[in-house]
Amino acid sequence: MKVIDNIEELKKEIKALNGSIGLVPTMGALHDGHKSLIEKSVSENNNTVVSIFVNPIQFCAGEDLDKYPRTLEADLKLCKDAGVEIVFTPTPEIMYEGDKNNLTLICPPYAAVDKLCGKSRPGHFDGVCSVVAKLFNLTKANKAYFGQKDAQQLFIIKKMVKDLNFDIEIVPCPIVREQDGLALSSRNKYLDTEERQIALNISKALKLAQSDYKKGIATKRSIVDNTLKLLEQMDVEYIEFVDDNNFEFVDALDDKTRVLIAARTPNSNTRLIDNILLK
Ligand code: PAJ
Repeated sequence: MKVIDNIEELKKEIKALNGSIGLVPTMGALHDGHKSLIEKSVSENNNTVVSIFVNPIQFCAGEDLDKYPRTLEADLKLCKDAGVEIVFTPTPEIMYEGDKNNLTLICPPYAAVDKLCGKSRPGHFDGVCSVVAKLFNLTKANKAYFGQKDAQQLFIIKKMVKDLNFDIEIVPCPIVREQDGLALSSRNKYLDTEERQIALNISKALKLAQSDYKKGIATKRSIVDNTLKLLEQMDVEYIEFVDDNNFEFVDALDDKTRVLIAARTPNSNTRLIDNILLK
């Protein structure tokens, strides 16, 4: 496995690869959620490239850029064990040539970002799309793997690929959870035991929404009420309902409805997101 931190060498090594290339973009602090994307890519491609880059331009002022967990040694071991060919670990200086305030950005349309996570994180998805587009160009990947955990991100990247005619297939991957239901996240490292218990209620609320829907007793109102009760110790940013095909808000629930939650824990103020398709 090659670990590469600069663009010239990456280009050279990408050129030297034979066969198909799968890309898994990450910000590191890899866990079993990332691992599932990496393993899928390894199983579907001749070569897998993993990028590990805490992308400063997708963090807003006051967010956790500086304290974002960095566990490079363990990340490299996970990649090596999974059979990855190349790990790309650039610094911001290398990625943005020292000037991250003077960049050409890819900005998804207002309608796609002025809701859900984009609403409270202005510029976040510009930063995500811009770095992902650079990674697509640098790796010349045939397929790229994204988790449904970040459902709005997945939707926006699929839209960018379609709108800008990127020659790449986006492969959505299911959410990986702890045994008790908590969605894996690099930010779970911020939680102490008590907060972890509190955070578990997010996935409980989503499971309840799904089982009530399947029983035919769920409405948007009932799901919001039940969720707010379960999350009374958290600061709930949103509970929303979208059509999974176009990410438009829906009035009534059906099999295509995705329920999405963002909430903050009471002590460490960790912002967690999770979602579920009702069907
Ligand atoms: P990061 O949060 O490191 O996530 C990298 C990829 O792992 C994303 O596609 C995310 O959806 C997926 N992922 C995270 N937790 C998951 C889980 N529990 N189950 C399944 N997949 C999971 O998302 C980013 O980084 C960045 O925005 C990035 C796309 C790398 C651009 O900087």
